[in-house]
Parts: sequence; structure tokens; C-alpha cells
Amino acid sequence: METITVKASKTYDIVIGTGILEEAGSLMRKTVGGQAAAVVTDDNVAALYGKRLMDTLERGGYRISGFVLPHGEASKNADTFLAILNFLAEEKLSRTDVVVALGGGVTGDIAGFAASSYMRGVSFVQVPTSLLAMVDSSVGGKTAINLNAGKNLAGAFYQPDAVICDVSLLSTLSPEFYRDGCAEVIKYGVIADDILFKNLRSDIMEQIEDVVARCVETKRDIVAVDEFEHGSRKLLNFGHTVGHAIELLSGYQIPHGHAVAAGMAIETRAAVRMGICDQPCSRDILDMLRRYELPTNTAYEADRIARACLSDKKRDGGSLTMIFPAEIGKCIMKEIPISELEAVIRLGLSTL
Ligand SMILES: NC(=O)c1ccc[n+]([C@@H]2O[C@H](COP(=O)([O-])OP(=O)(O)OC[C@H]3O[C@@H](n4cnc5c(N)ncnc54)[C@H](O)[C@@H]3O)[C@@H](O)[C@H]2O)c1
Ligand SMILES: [Zn+2]
Repeated sequence: METITVKASKTYDIVIGTGILEEAGSLMRKTVGGQAAAVVTDDNVAALYGKRLMDTLERGGYRISGFVLPHGEASKNADTFLAILNFLAEEKLSRTDVVVALGGGVTGDIAGFAASSYMRGVSFVQVPTSLLAMVDSSVGGKTAINLNAGKNLAGAFYQPDAVICDVSLLSTLSPEFYRDGCAEVIKYGVIADDILFKNLRSDIMEQIEDVVARCVETKRDIVAVDEFEHGSRKLLNFGHTVGHAIELLSGYQIPHGHAVAAGMAIETRAAVRMGICDQPCSRDILDMLRRYELPTNTAYEADRIARACLSDKKRDGGSLTMIFPAEIGKCIMKEIPISELEAVIRLGLSTL
């Protein structure tokens, strides 16, 4: 078991281990407190792990209740958000009680946003169950729901009071969602951790606790310096400028991690053409994506991708911040004028 402490607007611990779900109740009793715990989860995860979490919370002395949403991105909407708030009110949760998110990034994002706004903020615990949630969405305090106009358009920066990460829960994750999480793991290697990147040449599941811990440490370090994404937190968006555009163009049929993998490949090839990184570095990144059966290109054309990028909210006036690898473990941020965006993407689409 490993404990990683995050020092942001809140200081809290992320506990990573195998088989620690059963200890969630006692861990929360020690670190978070409160009388009642409202668990938010999706139907898939509820069937697999709901009872085990409820049992440990009861053993920890909590009065428990549960809200189950249908699994999938479509649930991350304003109607479900409001339904969760009404549920918390009906359960008479007070300001010292706890909302617990048990699930992947969808559950964590919507439950976190509900916890941030119910009574202007109640305690919040993340129990991530997907690889993506363990290494990415449960850490760093971004919460959100989707609006009709786009993804994650409403939300809050709201740090949890604890994250309890039991890697044994990954045994039931589907191969597709597992690969999705692998894309984010590879991203951490490229942006900040060449040792992690090298380790990924051996299977992730054989070293899963260590891999999750390294990713979480990198995100923790970045968030500690720039919690509200004014500067260096943007490094976490490597692969995401183009990746979000691909997700959008596919009508969200291409899953996030797969789109980000293609985005990383395209941004890497563009980096070679722009003289930011060399061919061996790009080959290493593309080989790693293929090793985890992730895509390294897209059939969408440069002009459509560029237009989709511009509808992304992370745009600053007349330019866009893009992240490019300089070497494995080091990325740079570069302002790309909107007038040059299509040309940069075109550089990345054609194979070297
Ligand atoms: N807040 C952030 O910083 C941040 C960062 C990255 C992504 N996100 C968000 O995260 C979401 C994607 O997360 P996700 O991929 O975890 O999606 P998800 O929550 O939809 O989970 C993926 C699928 O796996 C199932 N599942 C989860 N854990 C399981 C387990 N242990 N066993 C079996 N099935 C399991 C879920 O029911 C779901 O069907 C997106 O909405 C994205 O915007 C947020
Ligand atoms: Zn991502």
C-alpha cells in the first residue's frame, strides 16, 4: 500500500493498494469523518462492487445511501446532476457528510461536481475503478458535466478529501476501457517520466501499483504548481488538442483514450517536422502506442480537425496552446496561431 499526499487548495491523501476496498470505511473514518455517506456509482460498477463498498462504510460507522446512474458518458449531463442533488437533499446529507464516487471518470466527474455544489460543498471521496480514473480523473480536482454544446462545459475545481484506489478492481474492466487508460499512462511517461515510459515495455498489469503511483505523483506535482491550469498544467493536455477534436468529429464514438492516442501520434509527428523532437523519439512513442493496440492516426482531414479544435474551450484568443514532445519525459508548450493550426495538423497526419 502506498500513500501519496496532494498539497493543493486542500491537502489530502491518495491511498493505492491491492484489495483495499474493504478498508475504505475505516480509512474514511480516520481521515474524512462525517455521519452519512452517499455513494454515487453506475449500474455496471454497482453490480460488481456496490455491496462491498456499502458494507465497509457501515463497518466504518456511516449511515449509507446509494444513487446509481446508467453507465456511459451520456449520463454526465445536467439532468443526472440535478437528480443527484435532489437525492442528497432527500437523504438529508449535511455539510459534514460525505459523497463517495465509486466508478470511472464519468461517475467521479458528476459526483464531484454535485459534491462541490450541494450546500456549497460537502466532503468528497473518490474510489476510482477504471484505469483512466485511477491515473487521471480522480486526481487533481477537476469535476464536470457535459452541456448540449460540448463536453465538460460546466464544472468546478473541487479537490476530494481522499482517494482510495484499489487496483484489484481493474480485473473486471473491459479490454477497450483498459487500453483507454493505457493511453493516459503512456502520456505521463512522455510528458514527465522516462523511467515509467521504459517500464511500460513490460506489461502494465504486472506492475500496476507502481504504474498508478508514478502517474499520480506526476499529476500531483503538476497540480501542486498550477492547480487552476493557468500554465504548466496544460502539459497534461499532450495529445488532447487533436484528441478532443477526433472525439468530437466521431460523435464521441471513438473513446477518449483512443482519440488521445491518435492525438499524441499526430502531435508527435508534427513535432518532428517542426524540429522539436527527433525521429527516434517519435518512433519510441508510436511503437509504445502500437504495443498497447492504440491508434496512431485518423482518417479525418486536417481542415476538419482544425475546425473541431477551435470549438474546444481551451482556446486563448488568437492562438492555441499545443503540447509537443521534445524527448521522452519532456514536453514543451507552444502557442500556435489559429491561422497556422491546420498546417501544423497536416504535418502530423502524414507519416514520416
Ligand atoms: N476530471 C478529470 O480530470 C478527467 C480527466 C480525464 C477524463 N475525465 C472524464 O472521465 C470520463 C472517462 O472516464 P472512464 O473511461 O473511466 O469512463 P466511465 O466512467 O464511463 O467508465 C468506463 C466504463 O467502464 C465501466 N467500469 C468502470 N470501472 C469498472 C470496473 N472496475 N469493472 C468493470 N467495468 C468498469 C463503467 O461502467 C463504464 O461502462 C470522461 O467523461 C472524461 O471527460 C475527467
Ligand atoms: Zn485525457
